[in-house]
Amino acid sequence: MLEDKDRIFTNIYGFQDWGVDAAMRRGDWDDTKGLMARGQDAIIEEIKASGLRGRGGAGFPTGMKWSFMPKENKPGRPSFLLINADESEPGSCKDREIIRHDPHKLIEGALIAGYAMRARAAYIYIRGEFIREAETLFAAVAQAYERGLIGKNASGSGYDFDVFVHRGAGAYICGEETAQIESLEGKKGQPRLKPPFPAGVGLFGCPTTVNNVESIAVAPTILRRGASWFSSIGRENNKGTKLFQISGHVNRPTVVEEAMGISFRELIEKHAGGVRGGWDNLLAVIPGGSSVPLVPAAQIMDAPMDFDGLRGLGSGLGTAAVIVMDKSTDIVRAISRISYFYKHESCGQCTPCREGTGWMWRVMERLREGNADISEIDMLQEVTKQVEGHTICALGDAAAWPIQGLIRHFRPELERRINERNGAAPLAVAAE
Ligand code: NAI
Ligand code: SF4
Repeated sequence: MLEDKDRIFTNIYGFQDWGVDAAMRRGDWDDTKGLMARGQDAIIEEIKASGLRGRGGAGFPTGMKWSFMPKENKPGRPSFLLINADESEPGSCKDREIIRHDPHKLIEGALIAGYAMRARAAYIYIRGEFIREAETLFAAVAQAYERGLIGKNASGSGYDFDVFVHRGAGAYICGEETAQIESLEGKKGQPRLKPPFPAGVGLFGCPTTVNNVESIAVAPTILRRGASWFSSIGRENNKGTKLFQISGHVNRPTVVEEAMGISFRELIEKHAGGVRGGWDNLLAVIPGGSSVPLVPAAQIMDAPMDFDGLRGLGSGLGTAAVIVMDKSTDIVRAISRISYFYKHESCGQCTPCREGTGWMWRVMERLREGNADISEIDMLQEVTKQVEGHTICALGDAAAWPIQGLIRHFRPELERRINERNGAAPLAVAAE
């Protein structure tokens, strides 16, 4: 279990003020100029050495991503940092807490990361529904300008750096980095084909790095405490601390910073008061937000909650949004609801996703009611394979994986419903 002294987000529950003075008392903006004076390449090397992997879901190494940015900016072609605060993954609510209670960690991180990658400015693209959070962020950015922490000669470093906050309009797909770039440019938010990656051709055609809020907000503390401190927490290839968001059938849903690799059992017992009705009442867990497959109770109990530990179970850490489902859950209905979400949020640009998400959801609904033929379970599995990996962005995969997980672990329940033809029975069933 993580010790208090190793927590980065010391105000995540908002017990103290989010404002700049309180943030400074907590250690933010402490000799930012000195951190920047280490030099751009040294900052990137330190982040690389820390082992920090992107906290938005994909887990791409953060320092490596920064190193893709050009070392020299061509005239008329500035570089940009784009901070993805369009947190919309069902189950995810950590970036929201950072912005509510610790926005200066994010703004200081924006300056340091932006400086390291030679960016002219950072854009923070915040989810449209985060109305109060956007107000806090606008106010925190204004405070940082007033104190000279950002803007011209930011923090006395001699570096000019602006931070702009842009509000989204409620489309999940605008959390996909290239759709976000399109949206920020004033166009319809639809993903672009990659490559080229944003570091080559990004915002307004210029080099851009897109990072998640948490990835940027932890950077100043990593630099202050050192890469070796951060990498001493967690496991090989899965370093550092992480904000876990625990929801569903636990006694105390929460957002908590923990060490990567903590076991599921310890995470839930220590921070969420255990599973509702006791451990025997656990049915399954979606460990990383709605895009990753569920894991049945028996398999997840002692699993390390990190990228590799959960991949080993055929799932993933994703955003570390841990959705706990007890035996009162109609598991087919739960996954069907997720299917509906992806159908609704598909941007419609590519055929396998546009047609496939609706197809999968309609079959899921019939399976929920038991109104299907047994052969349709395999057909549905085949459709998920036709969607997975055949689309422009990861939304197609995200729509396919939860269904694959359901078929892998709960096929007997699907068959039972079809055989009984008696509608959706809200019965608890044991996973295979
Ligand atoms: P991805 O694996 O395609 O890319 C991850 C990052 O690495 C991107 O910034 C990409 O530009 C960069 N990258 C990858 N390969 C590269 C290369 N060869 N050269 C340069 N840069 C490279 O994943 P993607 O589509 O960005 O994110 C998918 C994840 O997002 C999912 O795992 C899901 O968990 C998560 N997600 C999070 C949401 C949230 O609310 N936080 C919402 C929806 C999905
Ligand atoms: Fe749009 Fe879906 Fe294609 Fe992504 S996979 S570009 S959301 S249609």
